[in-house]
Amino acid sequence: MIQIPAASAEDLRFQCLLDDLITQGWSVQKNFLTADTAAMLRAECLIRWQGGEFRHAGVGRGAELKIRPEVRSDHVCWLDPTIPDTPQQQQYFATMEQLRQAVNRAIFLGIFQFEAFFAVYPPGKFYQKHLDRFRGSEDRTLTAVLYLNEDWKEEDGGQLRLYLDEAGVGPHVDVLPEAGTLAVFLTEGRWHEVLPATRERMSLTGFFRTR
Ligand code: OGA
Ligand code: MN
Repeated sequence: MIQIPAASAEDLRFQCLLDDLITQGWSVQKNFLTADTAAMLRAECLIRWQGGEFRHAGVGRGAELKIRPEVRSDHVCWLDPTIPDTPQQQQYFATMEQLRQAVNRAIFLGIFQFEAFFAVYPPGKFYQKHLDRFRGSEDRTLTAVLYLNEDWKEEDGGQLRLYLDEAGVGPHVDVLPEAGTLAVFLTEGRWHEVLPATRERMSLTGFFRTR
């Protein structure tokens, strides 16, 4: 009898994600990072937040960058993937690098770069329906949001609402920002928004870019 080596839990996790991306353009994976890593990232996020390392998130970029709290009222702290400061950042960036390679192998997106930031949404804050690409720019190709919030309940709000239609007005799925969950989607044309929460909401958002 031929013995086929059992696929590791890791292989399966990536396989499900890739299958979803290919068939529907988005995927939600619970426990994508271990509870330990998520908890350490959360602790780091909290320390940086309390240490005043965050800025009001803007809309647009360069000369067009504007702070528009009526559109988006989160606060962000960008990370440098070339110098991960902490073991949990190393773990996170290593996993995102595995994801980058797996996606490039499976769907030839030609992604070569990754950028990431911690985001904090204080209670009541939100990010209105939007696309992740800047006007006139196509380099953001894949969005990956990792959530860092323990014991998040439906009634806490703060869902990521992913629209399933091109116009972004119809059917949608709501993703709970529970610690360890990763929401991934092809960036182009994918409308989404962050609903207000009753609790402080923390995440680590990453964009994979092509040239
Ligand atoms: C973003 C964004 C989604 C989320 O930062 O562009 O859409 O669930 N984040 O935090
Ligand atoms: Mn977005």
